[in-house]
Amino acid sequence: MSTAELPLPLTATPAAWLSVALADLDAVHQDHLHCERKAAQSALSLVRSYPDRAELVLAVARLAHEETAHVVQVSQLLGRRGVDATLDHGDEYAAALRDHCRRSEPDRLLDRLLIFALIEARSAERLALLAAAIPDAATAHLYGSLAAAEVRHRDVFLELAEQVAPSTWRDRLSVLARAESEIVAKLPVRARIH
Ligand SMILES: [Fe+2]
Ligand SMILES: [Fe+2]
Repeated sequence: MSTAELPLPLTATPAAWLSVALADLDAVHQDHLHCERKAAQSALSLVRSYPDRAELVLAVARLAHEETAHVVQVSQLLGRRGVDATLDHGDEYAAALRDHCRRSEPDRLLDRLLIFALIEARSAERLALLAAAIPDAATAHLYGSLAAAEVRHRDVFLELAEQVAPSTWRDRLSVLARAESEIVAKLPVRARIH
């Protein structure tokens, strides 16, 4: 398996984020539902764009299947807590990352894969922080399992990136990982996953 050599995410989430998230867990879960939905949709968007890449189609379709299962799990969590889901508040974080995606192929495919890997890495980091801090054991266990899944997804996207651009993916990952860290540092700290 390929490894990125860099720690991903490159920089740690600001310390204030966890206390803000724990103070309004319902808002975090409501946002999280849409993060999982968007992860599934992003994976399937690669099937739409690159149907001729059979290996990629299989990998991202399986990944989308798992993300859809996560939507079910987070929806059930909201139900157990008696909390209604809300509309998506939008995602400045992902939008800022997408601004770094180059337009022409094959650069565009490489950048999409690396940006998705970085989103998975940041999500995994934050879900693990929640898993370690949420007092309710069942919810903490759920977050631990979701964090582990997002680490696997990060690696799926990195392996696909290596296949697409074996000689350039690491350098491009370094550039995008630095950009991701700058985006995180600039965004307000809120009770959301990102
Ligand atoms: Fe997920
Ligand atoms: Fe994921």
